[in-house]
Amino acid sequence: MKIPTHVAIIMDGNGRWAQQRGLPRLLGHREGANSIRACVEACQQAGVQYLTLYAFSLENWKRPMTEVTGLMGLLESFLRERTDEMLRKGIRLRAIGRLQDLPASCYQLLRDSMASTAQNQAFTLILALSYGSRAEIVDAVQSIARDVKAGKIQIDQINDQVIGDHLYTSDIPDPDLLIRTSGEMRLSNFLLWQSSYTEIYVTPKLWPDFRTTDLHKALEDYSNRHRRYGGVAE
Ligand code: IPE
Ligand code: IPE
Ligand code: MG
Repeated sequence: MKIPTHVAIIMDGNGRWAQQRGLPRLLGHREGANSIRACVEACQQAGVQYLTLYAFSLENWKRPMTEVTGLMGLLESFLRERTDEMLRKGIRLRAIGRLQDLPASCYQLLRDSMASTAQNQAFTLILALSYGSRAEIVDAVQSIARDVKAGKIQIDQINDQVIGDHLYTSDIPDPDLLIRTSGEMRLSNFLLWQSSYTEIYVTPKLWPDFRTTDLHKALEDYSNRHRRYGGVAE
């Protein structure tokens, strides 16, 4: 079976999961956080090398303060409780997004966890936090413009590679498979540049209900896709 090197997931539907049960949204997020471990494990076992999880978007700061605070609390618990396990399992933790926007305690824990797992090579888990793809591209454009002004690069040397090198994901391959749960058919400002030729898989399952079997279904679906990159099918 053809296995994607990099899987990216828009973990959506926590709120609806809670709403369907008459529970507060935050309980949906807590249940959603519990879906992560099995998913990481299943990806690692299947031979996927990179997994990017969209955990909090730049636009998610617009949500009620109680929800935002609750989500940051869950992120802190995740980092406190899972770092040792990641260390043991050879998982390197990375993060993309405007990380300085995170509460100081979260940011510190994240940095510690990334530093302690930095040498791991078996698998890379990337959390997208305070992440917005347009903001990432804007940051890249500004940084390239500064390089041009400083004479480090000529305008006509700017190409796909140069732009890619200025994104948060500069040393991470583009995602091969993008999964979105809860049935929404949109990218919501996630990896717009990087997903140019990514295969998209949408499942109606809500993220807290997403299980290993659902991941395997997505991987199987991917293995039957014919990626043509604008060329002609073999
Ligand atoms: C995804 O679930 C988690 C985050 C965006 C943090 P939602 O909270 O968006 O759940 P729905 O879409 O309201 O069901
Ligand atoms: C995308 O989900 C962000 C994350 C999963 C973290 P949203 O629920 O925020 O996206 P929209 O608002 O439905 O587009
Ligand atoms: Mg949502």
